[in-house]
Amino acid sequence: MEKKKVLGISFGRKMSNCDVMVKEALMECQREGCDVAFIRADDLEINNCTGCIACVIGMMSGRGRGYCVKHDDFDILDEAIMQSDAVILACPTYETSVTGRFKTICDRIGPSHDITFRKARYEEGKEAGVPEEQLPDARAFKKRSAALISVGGAMTEEWIALTLPMMYEFTFPMGIDVVDTVEYYGAMACENVAGNPEMMKRMTRVGKNIVESINAGDEDERIKYRGDEEGTCPICHTRLIQFSHDKKTASCLVCGSLGTFDIVDGKFTMHYTDEELNRSRLRWGGKLEHSTEIKTQAQPAGTIKNLKELKQPYADFNPGVWSVDENACGNIKK
Ligand SMILES: Cc1cc2nc3c(=O)[nH]c(=O)nc-3n(C[C@H](O)[C@H](O)[C@H](O)COP(=O)(O)O)c2cc1C
Repeated sequence: MEKKKVLGISFGRKMSNCDVMVKEALMECQREGCDVAFIRADDLEINNCTGCIACVIGMMSGRGRGYCVKHDDFDILDEAIMQSDAVILACPTYETSVTGRFKTICDRIGPSHDITFRKARYEEGKEAGVPEEQLPDARAFKKRSAALISVGGAMTEEWIALTLPMMYEFTFPMGIDVVDTVEYYGAMACENVAGNPEMMKRMTRVGKNIVESINAGDEDERIKYRGDEEGTCPICHTRLIQFSHDKKTASCLVCGSLGTFDIVDGKFTMHYTDEELNRSRLRWGGKLEHSTEIKTQAQPAGTIKNLKELKQPYADFNPGVWSVDENACGNIKK
């Protein structure tokens, strides 16, 4: 039987905390018989998404396979993800959230890899007899598991608050199931995490949890959440909620599901209906709702007849930037 493949991706500095943490989890996966691979995101040259949405328009019109028109090192990452059965990601916290490169990669993943767009195109194409090589890569629909690890140098966890929730941007477009999460803050209190036995032990457990998930006998067991944090959301287990404008309801910012709240046994508790949980963007229903609204409500180019005229004042308005005083103490090279 072919070995299960686990891909580790570090978004941190070379041989700093994220690298070491991902590698420890991968080593455990290797000990348990998996085929492992490691990528350090900063070793890749990956350009920003320009927002052209050719990836989605291509799939909706039947002319494309869901790929980006740009070809750079994202292709290396994409192929590694397609081959994998599980991914282990570790991202540093920059300004309370993910790094710029992490976000760049997420923008290149979604919406082009959104499984509801890809699957719809794949099935329509198959029915119409389109050759496989002209359709979205069927490996995109493979069930995958993930572990997410956020790292922050600051001593207080409030300074890493947005990193883990933002990391779901990597996994939700492809429907990758997150089965373990770890938030490591206070990283600057230890020269390198390799000298923190407790956290290294937790990384070994990340590896074990991933192996347990990908070798599970059934789907419920595979997607079972194995993290330590119960959270306020039964799907993503994060604690990031936003109150609605009237403050009578609240939603999970990662999933997008709306719920009510009260205090149970002295604890703030969210209540979600099954219908709302199925609207989570981590589930097929939530993703399908979104791709359907785009397909049915986004207006194509040419719908506003006098658009050129409406935009003209803005095209003509170019105030530029202020001139630089040569003696100023700024960082601009002469
Ligand atoms: C630009 C920048 C912003 C940072 N902002 C935060 C922050 O908001 N909160 C925090 O806990 N750590 C912050 N840090 C510290 C990093 O999260 C920390 O050094 C982490 O260990 C980096 O991961 P690495 O060791 O794997 O490279 C920041 C570091 C940099 C370079």
